[in-house]
Amino acid sequence: MPGPLPVVGDAWPLLRDPIGFLSSLPSRGDLAPLRLGPMPVSVVCTPGLAQQVLRDDRTFDKGGPFFDRIRDLLGEAVATCPHSQHRRLRRLVQPAFRDEQLRRYQPVMRAEAERLAASWSDGQSIDVMAATMAYTTRLALRTLFSVSLTKERLDAAVSDIETWVAGVPRQMLLPPGAGHLPLPANRRYREAITGLRATIADAVEERRGRAFDTQEPDLLASLIIAQDSEDPSGRLNDTELINNAATFLAAGTETSATALAWMFHLLALHPHVQRDLRTEIAGQEEHTDAADRPGHDDGSLCHRVVLEALRLHAPAWLLTRTVTEYTALDGIPRATGATVAYSPYVLHRNAAYFPDPQAFRPDRWTDWTPEPGTFLTFGGGPRSCVGHRFAMLELTAALRAVAAAWELEPLDAGPPRPRLGATLAPGGLRLRVRARANSGGQQGPLHS
Ligand code: HEM
Repeated sequence: MPGPLPVVGDAWPLLRDPIGFLSSLPSRGDLAPLRLGPMPVSVVCTPGLAQQVLRDDRTFDKGGPFFDRIRDLLGEAVATCPHSQHRRLRRLVQPAFRDEQLRRYQPVMRAEAERLAASWSDGQSIDVMAATMAYTTRLALRTLFSVSLTKERLDAAVSDIETWVAGVPRQMLLPPGAGHLPLPANRRYREAITGLRATIADAVEERRGRAFDTQEPDLLASLIIAQDSEDPSGRLNDTELINNAATFLAAGTETSATALAWMFHLLALHPHVQRDLRTEIAGQEEHTDAADRPGHDDGSLCHRVVLEALRLHAPAWLLTRTVTEYTALDGIPRATGATVAYSPYVLHRNAAYFPDPQAFRPDRWTDWTPEPGTFLTFGGGPRSCVGHRFAMLELTAALRAVAAAWELEPLDAGPPRPRLGATLAPGGLRLRVRARANSGGQQGPLHS
């Protein structure tokens, strides 16, 4: 592997073949040097170093260009704030993802998954990312504001999120200050952020203005009533509410949409897995929503398919940290202000931890748990994904609804081109859907 190119750093090979490039980083050493434009980054390439960085979130704190751009929308929130504010915010948002809350979201997930499956017709060619983005965005908005949002506001918010998500990669690459120049793309980006924050602010105000009980099923209600267990008078103020509600929208839409799109792609390449899934789904009389631990491993093929897709195609491809005090990693000194990163691709495609790592083999997850520090799709340590079981449930719901009704077929000769943005998405992926042979007729399912 050649070293960094002089002018553009590693941007060119990274853009040309992101998965190949990221998975080859260990050939540069356990602490692989990388240049993102002008910025030097050290990528941890062993499970031990990844755990050191993820567990010590005081020394390796949130920071870097990605999180700076995310703060444009979110302000200081649980995903972006420094260590000094994190524990309190995490305690306050965590209740929104407890088992009893997750169970309340599940009917919405099922309804949206059915809606996704019902939106296709036999033989149609599907723009997969557009379909999965619509699914996860509607779902995030409906679970966040189940009561408060009118259809018009819902549609406007879906469109604002799409504009914001599409604008993040461009904003990340602009020099400091250039994001505020009066250019059409900048204007659209800022307007989407303003629109989204206004939608959330209205919903918060509306919510505060009327009584509600603790049984209400949405995330916003759960944020409003959240109390800090270590400071019972401490609740989220309005700005924190808006920032954290926006965080759920930002952190939980494109990530899940990307995961789902890759999963559909993998299924299209493996018809026998689709067949086995249908057999499993047909054998289960009802959804297993009443499971004791929603989102945990229930031993099903559905769960294994989701995990294997998340291993091969982790949506979050590079997560950065800023070193806050002089430290050593792998015996190498790291100065204050240095940038360190982890990438799931480095470990997920390493044969030492996942035998035959390039193969899609859901059954590798049968009665098996990866070594600590090797499966990083949802990060790890105190800053790990607070929504990971929500994500597992929404992915499983969509997988079930689609696999029960449709046969997915590849349309293009080659694999989709990974598109490097806020997530590593399957660029331009299209699939053909065929109604299941025994679903009776030309049309797919007829749910509304
Ligand atoms: C497949 C879908 C998802 C993936 C792959 C994913 C991935 C991640 C990763 C890797 C992190 C850690 C970031 C870091 O180390 O810097 C994270 C954090 C976070 N995620 Fe997710 N996520 C997903 C879905 C969701 C959903 C659905 C929500 C909310 C509804 C969510 C909310 C969050 C939040 C709030 C954090 C910050 C946690 C903290 O710092 O305490 N994510 N996610």
